[in-house]
Amino acid sequence: MLVLLMRYSRTSTSPDQPIYIASTAVFMAELIKIITCLFMLHHQEKSYKKCIHLIYSEIVQKPYEVGKMLIPSGLYALQNNLLYIALSNLEAATFQVTYQLKILSTAAFSISLLGRSLNREKWLALVLLMVGVTLVQTESVTTVETLDNGQKPMIGLLAVLTSCISSGFAGCYFEKILKTSTTSMWIRNIQLGICGATFSFLGMMLSDFGQIKSHGIFTGYNALTWFVVTNQALGGLLVAMVVKYADNILKGFATSISIILSGIISFCLLDFQPSWLFLTGTAIVIAATFLYGAAS
Ligand code: C5P
Repeated sequence: MLVLLMRYSRTSTSPDQPIYIASTAVFMAELIKIITCLFMLHHQEKSYKKCIHLIYSEIVQKPYEVGKMLIPSGLYALQNNLLYIALSNLEAATFQVTYQLKILSTAAFSISLLGRSLNREKWLALVLLMVGVTLVQTESVTTVETLDNGQKPMIGLLAVLTSCISSGFAGCYFEKILKTSTTSMWIRNIQLGICGATFSFLGMMLSDFGQIKSHGIFTGYNALTWFVVTNQALGGLLVAMVVKYADNILKGFATSISIILSGIISFCLLDFQPSWLFLTGTAIVIAATFLYGAAS
């Protein structure tokens, strides 16, 4: 839902409404995440006093622990901005499948950061995944001339590839922090959110200050924009839960189901015409993902 609506919100605007500034949406998502975590913390502790005490002892008194979150939050801020670039320049389904390359980077960082090991079947699944993704990319590149709205697939592809590396590293780093300490997930997410909000605020000011000053931070916002921003924020918290209770590699399976849905919905609602190459690539990616899960 996030990928489809984010792309729709960037590419389909009426002539009388300006398009919203992407960097403000990334910043707003961080704020919504922090507010949601505070709400969840209160729900868990059932007392304002306890919440304030926890925030004081775990955040104000532990600047080093907050500082540890600078790395994943900086990467997520970069990645979340790159996502808008990618989705403004690629077909939603092409993006969705290409973005699965992050399964490879996640596997690599699971080995190096979390000390996991991968057997032969799992490596085979990863190679298959690359083949599948390459087929889908080939299809995207051959349709360069037919894309409208000034979309640039190569720029989109570069943005996705950078996001993949960032996603793998940040995910495994965050998983390590969540699983090697007893600090509550909501507190960890508030720590992450504080760093993320700071980074995305700086990003917003550096890249779009002029536009924000003359048109306001909420220029171009409509109900869909708020829906996308809230979806991004809650989706991020869902990622944290999956990483805490399962792991980053299993998260890849959940995403693979979303590829199928994204393709079907793009075909039905948007003007996406999948070729056989695209379908074959998608099938291989999905098969590889399941093969990876089946290999023990
Ligand atoms: O694609 P990937 O799974 O790496 O995306 C992770 C997304 O989840 C990013 O948008 C990131 O901002 C968000 N996230 C979050 N809070 C976490 C972990 C991830 O908002 N604790």
